Amino acid sequence: MRRLVAETRVHASQLILPMFVREGSTEPMPISSMPGVVQHSLDSMRRAIAEAAELGVGGVMLFGVPERKDAQGSGATDPNGILNVATRAAVAEAGDGLVVQTDLCLDEFTDHGHCGVLDARGRVDNDASLERYRDMAVAQAESGSQLLGLSGMMDGQVAAVREALDSAEFSETPILGYAAKYASAFYGPFREAVQSTLQGDRRSYQLEPGNRREGAREVLLDVNEGADIVMVKPAMSYLDVLADAAAVSPVPVWAYQVSGEYAMIEAAAANGWIDRERAVSESVTSIVRAGADAVLTYYASELARSLKTQPL
Ligand code: PBG
Repeated sequence: MRRLVAETRVHASQLILPMFVREGSTEPMPISSMPGVVQHSLDSMRRAIAEAAELGVGGVMLFGVPERKDAQGSGATDPNGILNVATRAAVAEAGDGLVVQTDLCLDEFTDHGHCGVLDARGRVDNDASLERYRDMAVAQAESGSQLLGLSGMMDGQVAAVREALDSAEFSETPILGYAAKYASAFYGPFREAVQSTLQGDRRSYQLEPGNRREGAREVLLDVNEGADIVMVKPAMSYLDVLADAAAVSPVPVWAYQVSGEYAMIEAAAANGWIDRERAVSESVTSIVRAGADAVLTYYASELARSLKTQPL
């Protein structure tokens, strides 16, 4: 009876698996603050994509971990940079099985760890960063990325990337705008995952956690610039922002259950303080209940597997 009257159902096709791919590595490497998540080699990435597709997962979001970083984030626009190499391999592996998406941001590739490039005074230069994003977008589309995830939070990034894609004859490549992305402590483990060298914080470009109206405003700005999908991030601490976004957005709204949300569930479960399986399914169900049409979660494949036997 409870299943019959359920108001929220989670389906594998609305789950997206974020994956880290490390340049030059031949074995998957564990990430200590995210037990069970790895930095993939190209081979282990291919296997994990085949598994996710087999389980009915809707997509994967790729992040590159380059061997070398520099001030401009050169690896991001290099066709032989790890993210572009991984994208070609992922698309070949996935076929029509799932949607291959790529993180479009410079932080994995810059030696200072910021999402954009810096000006002479060391501040993040919004408009110079847009130029890098335009080139990065074309490089990712040329590698076959099927959805570009713009996570850098520079003003005007969606319009700039849309224009660059259209000029390069990639008018059919869609954009996922990380519209309401908050300056959050819950990204902590991700910084280990991509070996970030960031000093300081991202408060000059990410949102203030207390600002709810501003989240909805950022969603509408991205929609007006041409975003095909918008994101709210993190998920669990921002369910009100997510519900607002779902109420006003004319395009799909996704949410990202981020690394710190994953780490908290894993740490509490490892101590025997919570029931891991129930916490995983409750957390994702709640994100869908609040209004997410799809969820990026490190649990995507695991949850898809358990949904086969026990539908939520
Ligand atoms: C930026 C980016 C970040 C995450 C996804 N894209 C890090 C940041 O903004 O600091 C965090 C994801 C997570 O914590 O799981 N490229």
